[in-house]
Amino acid sequence: MPDPIRILLFGAGNRGAQTYGRYGQTHPQNIRFVAVAEPNPIRRAQFAADHYISPERQFTNWQDALSAGKIADAVINATQDEMHHDSTIAALNVGYDVLLEKPIATTLSETLHIVRTAEETNRLLMICHVLRYTDFFQKVKAIFQSGRLGQVINISHSENVSYFHMAHSYVRGNWRNLALSAPMILAKSCHDLDLLYWFLDEKVTHLSSFGDLRHFKAENAPPGAPDRCTDGCPAAESCTFYAPRIYLDSLPIKQAVSRADNPMLRFIGKTSINHPQFAKALGKVIPPVRKLTEYSGWPRNTITEYPQDDAAVVDALRTGPYGHCVYRTDNDVVDHQVVSMRFESGITATLTMHGHSHEEGRMLRVDGSRATLLGKFSYSESWLEVHEHGSGAIERFTFASEVEQASGHGGGDDGLMNTFIQAMRGEQTPLTSARNSLESHLMAFAAEGARLGNVMVDMDQFREKSI
Ligand SMILES: NC(=O)c1ccc[n+]([C@@H]2O[C@H](COP(=O)([O-])OP(=O)(O)OC[C@H]3O[C@@H](n4cnc5c(N)ncnc54)[C@H](O)[C@@H]3O)[C@@H](O)[C@H]2O)c1
Repeated sequence: MPDPIRILLFGAGNRGAQTYGRYGQTHPQNIRFVAVAEPNPIRRAQFAADHYISPERQFTNWQDALSAGKIADAVINATQDEMHHDSTIAALNVGYDVLLEKPIATTLSETLHIVRTAEETNRLLMICHVLRYTDFFQKVKAIFQSGRLGQVINISHSENVSYFHMAHSYVRGNWRNLALSAPMILAKSCHDLDLLYWFLDEKVTHLSSFGDLRHFKAENAPPGAPDRCTDGCPAAESCTFYAPRIYLDSLPIKQAVSRADNPMLRFIGKTSINHPQFAKALGKVIPPVRKLTEYSGWPRNTITEYPQDDAAVVDALRTGPYGHCVYRTDNDVVDHQVVSMRFESGITATLTMHGHSHEEGRMLRVDGSRATLLGKFSYSESWLEVHEHGSGAIERFTFASEVEQASGHGGGDDGLMNTFIQAMRGEQTPLTSARNSLESHLMAFAAEGARLGNVMVDMDQFREKSI
């Protein structure tokens, strides 16, 4: 049995601690965290305690960790998007192999610089395009490869971001503002552009894109709404995005319901989503119901270090970005965008991304000359159907939904890590190498340019100019 791969973690935040940290705890034979770089002292101490990291291997930032020389086999870089460039270039130059969160970087020139540096230093650089590693999308890829769809004609793919995820991440949170992060088509949909490229194994020749920020603007604010929900908003009862309801009441129940395996709990939870006091009152006499109101996972755990504590959540809403009125923040990223594409063989595809869905998930439709493939990959259910034109036969495949999986992203998080370990051990080439992942990033940057400039992009020219 080979030794576990020794990891230096950059950023013990949501992905670093919850995804990669959890993988380390459940797969000790595969990886061992030997060092951590994290400026937040609570997160750093918690991560170090969880992984038995010695005090001299706990660093306050990635720069200090790298100045200690090469102290691990690889770096997992789970810092925020805008930090990816400098930290990854420096880690590669120290001689580390790197698993880097997507997007590779927030600008095209930085993205290219990272990809080139990995090649020049001859290091493994793998990008966290987790969806490729799910059973669901592996099956889609196998169906494409099987030829049973006939000649593929058109793909319609949609990424339906839930209204509360949109409000949390792209209106109030880390990805709300272009100057602070990346365009949403890159930050959120580089996964989807990557999937289209991977399914077809061919490049886009032409691309156009439309979309903007339609809803989360001052003109749509309820009359008299203050800058913060916690400052006595007159629309508290009626506003879908009223932060205390989202973080204290409905969302904990919504998230807990989707994870509850008891049908009675699911029923009570569903009934309570719009009447959270009902679950709270019932929880006082029926202890299992209390669990519905005590959920402290994402996104509560991203707004405070004490997500179990309602008072800490209220404090975060009063003082931090997540209590802002969604109509009065400094957000400027889109809340809907479409991309139309033509691939080399003439196949056409559209990607629709928007942030106003009742639930989180993706929907896929592929029409071929012999069959149609339909699919839904969501929190509540995941399935594929192949409808054959001639016979009318339907074959259905079902998969564990996002909430039924122990590992996030429909099992993709663990799939990614298993592949990274195998790639580190030389047992397989990584499916999402930096060079391979570059194409989706080129598509995203081109789409953003097409949207802003209201033009169609010739991708050959775009590649020639960029690379
Ligand atoms: N693969 C996916 O599907 C997926 C899903 C979600 C997020 N992401 C990406 O993962 C990355 C991290 O996202 P997150 O939600 O975990 O963010 P986060 O803000 O929760 O975590 C980032 C952490 O980096 C730390 N940090 C800041 N400065 C640092 C420094 N100088 N050195 C070391 N650490 C530093 C922060 O304190 C924070 O704890 C982002 O790039 C994001 O886009 C990818």
